[in-house]
Amino acid sequence: MSRDHTVLRTRSIFVALSLALASSALAACGDHEQDPYESTGGAGSGTGGSGGVGGAGPAPTYYEDIAPILNESCATCHVEGGIAPFALLTYEDAKTASGIMKIKTGAREMPPWNIDNTGDCNTYADARWLTDAQIATIAAWADAGAPEGDPKNAPAPPTAPKGLDKIDKTIDTGFDYTPDASLADEYRCFVVDLGLAEDRFVTGYEVRPGDKRVVHHAILFAMESAAADAQVEALDAADPKPGYLCYGGPGAAQAQWTLGYAPGAGALMYPAGTGLPLRAGRKAVLQIHYNLANGPYPDRTKVDLTLEKKVDKQAQIVKVGTNDINLPPGMADVAATGQMKIPDGTGQFHVWGVGPHMHQRGRTLRVDYEQGGQKTCIVDVQNWNFHWQGLALYSQPLAGSGGGTLSIRCGYDTTQETMPVTAGEGTSDEMCLNFLYVTQ
Ligand code: HEC
Repeated sequence: MSRDHTVLRTRSIFVALSLALASSALAACGDHEQDPYESTGGAGSGTGGSGGVGGAGPAPTYYEDIAPILNESCATCHVEGGIAPFALLTYEDAKTASGIMKIKTGAREMPPWNIDNTGDCNTYADARWLTDAQIATIAAWADAGAPEGDPKNAPAPPTAPKGLDKIDKTIDTGFDYTPDASLADEYRCFVVDLGLAEDRFVTGYEVRPGDKRVVHHAILFAMESAAADAQVEALDAADPKPGYLCYGGPGAAQAQWTLGYAPGAGALMYPAGTGLPLRAGRKAVLQIHYNLANGPYPDRTKVDLTLEKKVDKQAQIVKVGTNDINLPPGMADVAATGQMKIPDGTGQFHVWGVGPHMHQRGRTLRVDYEQGGQKTCIVDVQNWNFHWQGLALYSQPLAGSGGGTLSIRCGYDTTQETMPVTAGEGTSDEMCLNFLYVTQ
């Protein structure tokens, strides 16, 4: 059989778009006068990174150079009662962890962030990302024996992430669920009633974990048909415990990814004037990834939603991916690839963000858009970690027009496998997929 590249069959926004066809390939909208993300916190600005890097001058010190970095980029998770296993709020905390901090930040494993944010392939509004200078400062500080500096220069303590301005609906399962202590990770889906009499758009949300020690990430999928409602209700009924076990997705084809959460995120607003539709009368599935490393604590996670009747630009989640995954065992880098042609008559569109998705063997993922000989990088992942996925919004949206081709390449490591790995939603299967948050 030939290995021709099929793409996931997906209802594409591009067919529906009707604006005039422009001729440029995707380009960053640098001319936007207004910052579309003014309502979200701007992470990733370059604090620290001054003292002692490169060997010249005195070594960096905790209060002057390190605490500002940790408060900004680590404290949301590394706090008592947070998802991280230890706090990083005091000099003693940081000194104890200085060696391992150097290693984990140097490898870009901490702060956890899958997607390249160097600017080689876009930058992201809320990237959990240290600059190279900040990484070098942490390394130099650890190498110098973690000097304390002067407590008088301590930076302001970390501030809590901003909440929503307006809450129109709160999704609540209505009960505590205690994740299964015999598992390292449990992926559980809870069917919830959206209780909407009319269609609405989600323009902002905040996921409020019941117990941050166990809630690793959460995704809300909106059902798009009565058949999808019935599918997830059947799955729920078949599982004796509340909700049902689910790994990749909610187990229904007509389910729209609507929002995602990772620890420390706070409220998230979709780009101004845009929102994702929720349909009247439909169910939704709240998928929670419980991590049991800290113990099995009961949890009742709630999701606050900001809803609008109308938005200027309705957003859609467009998927580019492939089901043609056939990975032989024993390979350090084996690929799956797919392509999706964007119809000529599509007109202009904007891509605001991306959500790459693979399972445990995924290592790299890249999506490009090629049109008229011009190639634009959409997303580049160099150190995939299944545990830390979500939707990442660009610092500036990309504008483009139809007639080009989206291509995806996913790279996997199958050195631990004895059998070929194929496409599917289970832990033993793989996926190669990227979500795009798209408007006209
Ligand atoms: C979004 C949450 C989050 C943020 C932000 C974060 N961490 Fe972590 N960190 C974790 C979790 C959870 C773990 C436990 C291991 C895991 O799940 O990967 C961890 C583990 C660690 C470890 C221990 C690793 C080991 O194997 O023992 C170090 C060191 C660390 N983090 C340093 C940092 C530093 C430094 C920052 C900021 C520059 C940071 N982290 C930001 C969540 C976070």
